Amino acid sequence: MDNSSFVTIAHHTKEKIMYLLQMAEEFEKCPNRKLLDGRIVATLFFEPSTRTRLSFETAANRLGAKVIGFADPKVTSGTKGETLKDTIMMVSNYADIIVMRHYLEGAARYASEIAPVPIVNAGDGSNQHPSQTMLDLYSIYKTQGTLENLNIFMVGDLKYGRTVHSLLMAMRHFNPTFHFIAPESLAMPNEYKKFCQQNNLEFTEHTELDKEVISNADILYMTRVQKERFTDLMEYERVKDSFLLNNAMLELTKPNMRILHPLPRVNEIAYDVDDNPKAYYFQQAKNGLYAREAILCDVLGITLDDIKR
Ligand code: CP
Repeated sequence: MDNSSFVTIAHHTKEKIMYLLQMAEEFEKCPNRKLLDGRIVATLFFEPSTRTRLSFETAANRLGAKVIGFADPKVTSGTKGETLKDTIMMVSNYADIIVMRHYLEGAARYASEIAPVPIVNAGDGSNQHPSQTMLDLYSIYKTQGTLENLNIFMVGDLKYGRTVHSLLMAMRHFNPTFHFIAPESLAMPNEYKKFCQQNNLEFTEHTELDKEVISNADILYMTRVQKERFTDLMEYERVKDSFLLNNAMLELTKPNMRILHPLPRVNEIAYDVDDNPKAYYFQQAKNGLYAREAILCDVLGITLDDIKR
């Protein structure tokens, strides 16, 4: 077991989050720093990904590491019946760090308990997506100049969306006011609402997305309805197009407001929004490179001072 794994944002202190953001800021100034020369990064993706896998691999490459792994579990010996435990133990023989995405909640936690190398959770079912949270926090910090006292609106699939679950937990340090906008069947789960109550975080729930509701948002965090998590596809069909943000709906929003989306988008943000200066989702994805360079360095014991040297 290696205790430097990054499997959840829940255990990160405010100081640790701000420290990682400072590291990300350094990498944005200069992404190419050969701090991981001679290291091997394994990326094990048991679920599809575009941004997370490619930005982790870009981060590793820009840091001078070499990358091994798979983007599709069908090409692995898992198809012959090899267990997750055995796969993790094998890859630990070859790599200095394992970045993994898995469809089962808790898979990264489990891997971190058995692996002799650090595990980075690149998304586990509908549970957590902590590296996404770091790039979300970096994006919020860059666009708002602070993480404190913001009105954060989370829209869409709040039941299965792991990005909103992680972000909610991380924001507990920064006195946010949350607004949860979702169809009733995709509302924020009770465990996260309870988390808000236990941490004195104010939240309001809505079932409609309209311009009056979002007028005082600082961050409008749109999410996709997670088709792959539904057991009843009729239910997916019923809710899949619940909310579509378009330019006209942004009329009353504050000048500082920015629209984030972890992507991919399916039908939540109309293309006419892309040219609106309040649209920030493509830059947000770019910030993933810097945030993930910071994460890879941190779990391997490389400090902010090492980066600045
Ligand atoms: N945001 C995100 O996790 O995107 P991918 O599924 O493409 O990695």
